[in-house]
Amino acid sequence: MNRLAPSLLSADFSRLGQQVAAIEKAGAQVIHVDVMDGHFVPNISFGAVVMKSLLGKTKLPFDVHLMIENPDQYLESFVTDNTEIITVHAEACRHLHRTVQHIKSLGVKAGVALNPATPLSVLDYVLEDLDLVLIMSVNPGFGGQKFIPSQLDKIKTLKEMKDQRNPKLVIAVDGGINLDNIKTVADAGVELLVAGSMVFDAPDIESRVKELLELIQ
Ligand code: DX5
Ligand code: ZN
Repeated sequence: MNRLAPSLLSADFSRLGQQVAAIEKAGAQVIHVDVMDGHFVPNISFGAVVMKSLLGKTKLPFDVHLMIENPDQYLESFVTDNTEIITVHAEACRHLHRTVQHIKSLGVKAGVALNPATPLSVLDYVLEDLDLVLIMSVNPGFGGQKFIPSQLDKIKTLKEMKDQRNPKLVIAVDGGINLDNIKTVADAGVELLVAGSMVFDAPDIESRVKELLELIQ
């Protein structure tokens, strides 16, 4: 089943609890948590404290996207009752295989994200170990950017790799997802669709979530 993961990066943090309640009510299945450190990406967002403020307020699982250097040091702090997946960037991991095993040892699913210019070949020797691969369809750091078209080919190639080598792998996409491209991306094999500005900048968050969900079911 395809799932929609609204990204908190574009939420109104003064009303975070209400906005999360709205996306949950509308049927979104996952909360995407964008963590930025101002080093790996040229922006700072928020850390585990903000994510943890939602514990007990939502049943939705957290999909944690760590856009940070040295992620190993912080993995534990993102493991909560709601945490389903922790994703690290291949570009930020000197020992990617070790970091993937570290995530799994914490009892959560392990994901690896690839920047737009990073080839799929970096996954060659870890693909079987992964639960999720996140294809970044924008350069990470900011919400509201345009989908980079070349990433659609990357998704299609990854889908072939998945079918041959790890059928349980979930392909996720993040960046520039909108009403016009979400169906194309889902049809290419993406099962976890992240959307930030498309959800939280909408005049009515609930109806926008429903509209996006309809396109991917
Ligand atoms: C980008 C973040 C994304 C971002 C997506 O660095 O990882 O999750 O919030 O935002 P939109 O959907 O607006 O491109
Ligand atoms: Zn993200």
